[in-house]
Amino acid sequence: MAAALSKISCWASYILFLYFVYHPAEAAVKRYQFDIQVKNVSRLCHAKPIVTVNGRFPGPTVYVREGDRVLVNVTNHAKYNMSIHWHGLKQFRNGWADGPAYITQCPIKRGHSFTYDFTVTGQRGTLWWHAHILWLRATVYGAIVIMPKPGTPFPFPQPDREENIILGEWWNSDVEDIETQGDKLGLPPNASDAHTINGKPGPLFPCSEKHTFTLEVEQSKTYLLRIINAALNDELFFAIAGHNMTVVEIDAVYTKPFTTRAILIAPGQTTNVLVQATQKPNRYFMAARPFMDAPLSIDNRTATAILQYKGIPNTVIPLLPHLPEANDTSFALSYNAKLRSLNSPQFQANVPLNVDRHLFYTIGLGINPCPTCLNGTKLAASLNNITFVMPQVGLLQAHYFNIKGVFRLDFPDNPPTPFNYTGAPLTANLGTTLGTRVSKIAYNSTVQLVLQDTNLLSVESHPFHLHGYNFFVVGTGIGNFDPKRDPAKFNLVDPPERNTVGVPTGGWTAIRFRADNPGVWFMHCHLELHTGWGLKTAFVVENGKLPDQSILPPPKDLPPC
Ligand SMILES: *[C@@H]1O[C@H](CO)[C@@H](O)[C@H](O)[C@H]1NC(C)=O
Ligand SMILES: *[C@@H]1O[C@H](CO)[C@@H](O)[C@H](O)[C@H]1NC(C)=O
Ligand SMILES: *[C@@H]1O[C@H](CO)[C@@H](O)[C@H](O)[C@H]1NC(C)=O
Ligand SMILES: *[C@@H]1O[C@H](CO)[C@@H](O)[C@H](O)[C@H]1NC(C)=O
Ligand SMILES: *[C@@H]1O[C@H](CO)[C@@H](O)[C@H](O)[C@H]1NC(C)=O
Ligand SMILES: *[C@@H]1O[C@H](CO)[C@@H](O)[C@H](O)[C@H]1NC(C)=O
Ligand SMILES: *[C@@H]1O[C@H](CO)[C@@H](O)[C@H](O)[C@H]1NC(C)=O
Ligand SMILES: *[C@@H]1O[C@H](CO)[C@@H](O)[C@H](O)[C@H]1NC(C)=O
Ligand SMILES: *[C@@H]1O[C@H](CO)[C@@H](O)[C@H](O)[C@H]1NC(C)=O
Ligand SMILES: *[C@@H]1O[C@H](CO)[C@@H](O)[C@H](O)[C@H]1NC(C)=O
Ligand SMILES: *[C@@H]1O[C@H](CO)[C@@H](O)[C@H](O)[C@H]1NC(C)=O
Repeated sequence: MAAALSKISCWASYILFLYFVYHPAEAAVKRYQFDIQVKNVSRLCHAKPIVTVNGRFPGPTVYVREGDRVLVNVTNHAKYNMSIHWHGLKQFRNGWADGPAYITQCPIKRGHSFTYDFTVTGQRGTLWWHAHILWLRATVYGAIVIMPKPGTPFPFPQPDREENIILGEWWNSDVEDIETQGDKLGLPPNASDAHTINGKPGPLFPCSEKHTFTLEVEQSKTYLLRIINAALNDELFFAIAGHNMTVVEIDAVYTKPFTTRAILIAPGQTTNVLVQATQKPNRYFMAARPFMDAPLSIDNRTATAILQYKGIPNTVIPLLPHLPEANDTSFALSYNAKLRSLNSPQFQANVPLNVDRHLFYTIGLGINPCPTCLNGTKLAASLNNITFVMPQVGLLQAHYFNIKGVFRLDFPDNPPTPFNYTGAPLTANLGTTLGTRVSKIAYNSTVQLVLQDTNLLSVESHPFHLHGYNFFVVGTGIGNFDPKRDPAKFNLVDPPERNTVGVPTGGWTAIRFRADNPGVWFMHCHLELHTGWGLKTAFVVENGKLPDQSILPPPKDLPPC
């Protein structure tokens, strides 16, 4: 009997083998070469060398289809260490290709290459890639466009054309000098000198007439804009004069469509909108400007690009859109409240209804001693009063190869001392605890994380990004989270699903996810300033019991430290 069975299983494998040889999967292998090179670029009447991919700024768009295997050979010719993050790609069991330096890999040194090798599974829409080391993502970024599998319909009116709109920030000085100067002073470094749309600030800035992005449109056609916020430190409003936008997707997840005059987009987020070119043929400004509702000074300058109807001459002066005021909290809250998952039978929102693990993390600013800094102190940021210290070895390697002493698994599930988080500003006793501390999460458990802003020094809104997962934003509010009353108001039906979410100024946000992707996954504020100050931690998600529930073996060319 056993022999017969083994014969059958042998035949079955042979048939399977023949099947795979003669029916290769529809999915393709897409190969990209990313040469990290320095290039002189001129903006705002200044030329300066910037770090780029293939000499392009913004970098090349990665076009893939759901199911494709993607191989990106990154070769570093620049003087800085490099690593690239594929922001929002789930990297199932494959943290090796995720990219944050010293979290999932050691950096790619000058003169070396590393091939990011990943398969795009269960995702379609707009994501993006960027450098994930130092402040290099200021110029090292580009779009990822994932087409649906053949035969998977787009659940909205089919656009006639599409365009990427990547919002960014520009400094006249070298960004690494800016970062280093801030670190030396222990203070926030200089704010950016301009905002940009597709790398260009637009004609409201000096010497920028020729550095203006223009989208030519034809009357009565529909355009899909894939909008990405690649800015380092600014949440942005974006609007088009005379045209409404219909939001259909955020962070590569379809939404219930709604029409709006402006969108709000935090660093790390993407938003797809449909725009109909049905207005009077003219030139219209598209514009982006920050949202900042805390008393902090930032670069509040407006970047512009032009939506130009075919046949209208370049001499026509475009109209500016009405952007919400920088401090328009009510617009921000009501805009975010409109975001809902599409949750159709085909594109379901599988919100975890029961929670295995409750986490409550406070976001705080602090001041720590720094003998070499200007005042003998430096600003810091913390989660549950812990300022994350970057390790010297990738956390994923340390976890996979069981290297001791790199991190501790005792990140607390709750703040050490509860207090009136969003009450009067706290300006005394602002020290934080330093440590490379992370949290262990059981495989396939459901996690609820409440991120609570605090008034330690100042309240501020913080866009939080989780690697390796999408999560559902089940609730948000102003003030202190109330564990007795607030969960009753959670949306467990069609909450927005995304990879980056803004925690409101002086408020809280609750997210849920199922920990079904084993690995070490970074979680951090996507304001680069705050990431640098230590507003970050990681989840070590354990392996499951079955072979296909474990972290894959590391690639052979993984950079050593
Ligand atoms: C870049 O521009 C600067 C300033 O104009 C100039 O000094 C430098 O030689 C240029 N470098 C290259 C590689 O073209
Ligand atoms: C990656 O690119 C470099 C530089 O072109 C090349 O030397 C190397 O062989 C490439 N690696 C792979 C795996 O193709
Ligand atoms: C930052 O701004 C100050 C004041 O304008 C200037 O003196 C300094 O050189 C700037 N820092 C860098 C790195 O450009
Ligand atoms: C934009 O939408 C608003 C209401 O949401 C409407 O009042 C306005 O007329 C629309 N504008 C255009 C140009 O369609
Ligand atoms: C922009 O910021 C500058 C400097 O902080 C300030 O003087 C100016 O009033 C601000 N402009 C707007 C429109 O908020
Ligand atoms: C927002 O800023 C404007 C000035 O730009 C000011 O007049 C207004 O009072 C501010 N609103 C709030 C709610 O702080
Ligand atoms: C450091 O000193 C400067 C100048 O005296 C002051 O403006 C700044 O607020 C101080 N910063 C901190 C963090 O104490
Ligand atoms: C927290 O602080 C706010 C503002 O000062 C105050 O209104 C509120 O009553 C305080 N809450 C508690 C529980 O003390
Ligand atoms: C954070 O930790 C530091 C150092 O242990 C301590 O002095 C401070 O009171 C703590 N702050 C809070 C808000 O828990
Ligand atoms: C994870 O747990 C859910 C709920 O218990 C279960 O339906 C699912 O099969 C589990 N997934 C895996 C991969 O174990
Ligand atoms: C680059 O990374 C390696 C490996 O972590 C490190 O030893 C080296 O100091 C880094 N180089 C620079 C210039 O930061």
